[in-house]
Amino acid sequence: MNFNTDLSCILVIFGGTGDLTHRKLLPAIYNLKHSGKLPDNFALVSIGRKDISNDEYREQAYKSIKNSSRFKIIDETLWEDIAKRIYYKKFEFHDSLGYKELNSFLDKLDNSYNTKGNRLFYLAVAPEYFSLINDELYKQGMVKNEASWQRLIIEKPFGRDLSSARKLNKKITEVFGEANTYRIDHYLGKEMIQSLMVLRFANSIFEPLWNSKYIDNIQISSSETVGVENRGGYYENSGALKDMVQNHMLQLLTLTAMEAPVDLSSSSIRDEKVKILRSLEDITPEKIKQDIIRGQYGESMIDNKRILGYRQEDKVSLNSNTETFVALKLHVENYRWAGVPFYIRTGKRMKKKSTEIIIQFKSIPKFLYSKEFDNLNSNLLVIGVQPREGIYLKFNTKKPGTENFIIPVEMDFCQTCQFESNTPEAYERLLFEVMNGDNTLFTSWDEVEYSWKFVDNISSQWGSEKLSLPNYESGSFGPKEADELLLRDNRHWWNL
Ligand code: BG6
Repeated sequence: MNFNTDLSCILVIFGGTGDLTHRKLLPAIYNLKHSGKLPDNFALVSIGRKDISNDEYREQAYKSIKNSSRFKIIDETLWEDIAKRIYYKKFEFHDSLGYKELNSFLDKLDNSYNTKGNRLFYLAVAPEYFSLINDELYKQGMVKNEASWQRLIIEKPFGRDLSSARKLNKKITEVFGEANTYRIDHYLGKEMIQSLMVLRFANSIFEPLWNSKYIDNIQISSSETVGVENRGGYYENSGALKDMVQNHMLQLLTLTAMEAPVDLSSSSIRDEKVKILRSLEDITPEKIKQDIIRGQYGESMIDNKRILGYRQEDKVSLNSNTETFVALKLHVENYRWAGVPFYIRTGKRMKKKSTEIIIQFKSIPKFLYSKEFDNLNSNLLVIGVQPREGIYLKFNTKKPGTENFIIPVEMDFCQTCQFESNTPEAYERLLFEVMNGDNTLFTSWDEVEYSWKFVDNISSQWGSEKLSLPNYESGSFGPKEADELLLRDNRHWWNL
């Protein structure tokens, strides 16, 4: 970890009036302040295209924080201290003059807040502006990399495919360098994702079992109840594969499957993650047909409310072929995981919101109990990422009483119950890590590159093949083909 002790900085948010800033970034800043983690030398400048004053922006920021902070009661003294450090600037992202003025404004703020030229540029804008803003920051001499530091935080999607990601990466790293480029995958900021490494490598009981000798299969699911909401335009060109698998799902896979890193430095951890991405089996035409399932939600009635199908959503084509669900069976081809299938599934408009990693252990030999009790449950280790954070182990025990029944029970660590509202939210942690200069929780270029290679391989083979869609009802567990994928292997999804 390359901790930087001087956190003083100005956070400059491009996209300051957008949804992400209001729902996540501003509340994260307040939460950091509340937790005593926001540096004393700090200012925030939001850039947007709306014509509003500093005071109007501060008012909106207050409302957003009130609505979305994990602290339900806003401490007015803390807020006042933040409010006076928040500024709003209006300009178009292609307007060079705007950057010039911004630059001198930031220099002035340095004097008022003692922020020492340190900048954190956050690109919370549509991806078509990433390159443009990066270039302007460079042209106007806003990236100096001398005694002060300038870092770039870039939201997903990082490219539309491998080739566009490469182009973008070249431009950005020419200006900021890999070390100062922070590619967001907000799943890496989730509490349980960080616990995963601790669970695996800080306990002696799990690691010896974490391999093909003891594990039957691993299921990684992330389901959402919401549809595409107002993002139809973006989603039509993305679909679940690029929206969720290329980043979040592959990140969960790498952290679950990787070897222990040499140490806890970001480069050692990233190296191990990349090895997993490089060990993913090839996506052959047979695999595409058999092991990768696509789905799209159709309309339905839930609680007497009509839920639109994907094709009826705003900015979505009536014949759209875009997948809102994907299930994949994958193998990590290395010594540890030989023969162990990883089943990955993600979808919108599913029955419940849940992200879980489930480790299913092998069945016991068929001599003693398995003979007598045919449906003896498998041992499961469940890592609940959200909404319930925690880890539980499901195992069999004898039902108390005279009869000889075996029942499954759970040894449960419910993090949400024990540490409610104390758990920092993903963006809060991520912002803090960037101020600290630690990029462990951000995706390295190598990871992005290998993830895109994998995903491009699938999407190019899918091509424009027409499917019979929609194929699952909103509010369900996805298309029946996803169940059949596991049934063929005599397994089933654990819809816990
Ligand atoms: C985003 C996707 O990256 O992750 C969204 O673009 C998705 O489509 C979201 O809804 C899910 O995040 P979370 O934290 O709610 O699981």
